[in-house]
Amino acid sequence: MARFLVTGAAGFVGRSIAAALLARGETVRGVDNFLTGKRSNLAGLDAMELIEGDLTDPAVCARACGGVEIVFHEAALASVPRSVADPLATNRHCVEATLNLLIAARDAGVRRVIYAGSSSAYGDTPTLPKHEAMPVNPISPYAVAKLAGEHYMSVFARVYGLETATLRYFNVFGPYQDPMSHYSGVLAIFCRKMLAGEQPVIYGDGEQSRDFTYIDNVVHANLLAAEAPAEKISGTVMNVATGKRITLKETFRILRDLTGYSGEPAYAAPRTGDIHDSLADISRAQEWIGYTPQVDFREGLRRTVEWYAMTEGETGEHTRKLPVAR
Ligand code: UD1
Repeated sequence: MARFLVTGAAGFVGRSIAAALLARGETVRGVDNFLTGKRSNLAGLDAMELIEGDLTDPAVCARACGGVEIVFHEAALASVPRSVADPLATNRHCVEATLNLLIAARDAGVRRVIYAGSSSAYGDTPTLPKHEAMPVNPISPYAVAKLAGEHYMSVFARVYGLETATLRYFNVFGPYQDPMSHYSGVLAIFCRKMLAGEQPVIYGDGEQSRDFTYIDNVVHANLLAAEAPAEKISGTVMNVATGKRITLKETFRILRDLTGYSGEPAYAAPRTGDIHDSLADISRAQEWIGYTPQVDFREGLRRTVEWYAMTEGETGEHTRKLPVAR
């Protein structure tokens, strides 16, 4: 019987949490509908019990939660532009799925649910850094959907006594993030393209900035949140980020060094629903769960480029070799 459930276990963040739990010798169950999750992401996770199913089906949620103590809820349709193109699908796989999961968790006697929130909850506020006490201001269907999940988390803590906590992730990147879809995170897309000698496209002027957060930091925060005392964190929201931001233009320049790409980026119109600047105040997570970033942006990016360079793309193409390290 598994002690931990990871939803979205074949996705980038879910598989990374599952891998860390297995490395600690924990018993883990994963659930995924393989809508955006990939079977290749399950490599090395053989010890995980896997349920293939969709959380919009309450029976799948009930099966997934049976006997489990702690849930990491990572399953989602994680993309702002995807939500603009198809808000109903985002609602189904973020809101409806989350509510089904919470009901199943409550009914199965799960003790704690840690939820993957999103920095998009803050919207395009001029105030930086973004602190959890600031009013939320979702400006895309994706942000609305992830925020609804947060509210359900805190309400289930208050109304049903389920221990819940939301970790608001800020632009997570790293190995296993899908680089192949135009809905993918920008760093995954840029790494793949630049390693393959293809020109990346910057939407807008490239001066937009993000608090890009390497995956190991997110995994670390989840493991801490699983262990923190309930009276400290239940029903709350915490930013998970690095507390530093970098522009897309500057990121491109670093990637040029790391990948050996020699061209310039192309520029296109800014994306609908895009925000300009994002930077987290991480003092709450520091204080409440003892979180500090473990891997900084440049080191994370170096590891990420190395991983994409070593990994054969899903299309079967081979990425180019890295330049000699300097
Ligand atoms: C948003 C959320 C993030 C969430 C993610 C899910 C914010 C601040 N962040 O990320 O918490 O996890 O959605 O998808 O709201 N870009 C390019 N070229 C590309 C692709 C993207 O220039 O090929 C630009 C985008 O226009 C954007 C930036 O890069 O300005 C980052 O985009 P992306 O990686 O998609 O993430 P966000 O939309 O910031």
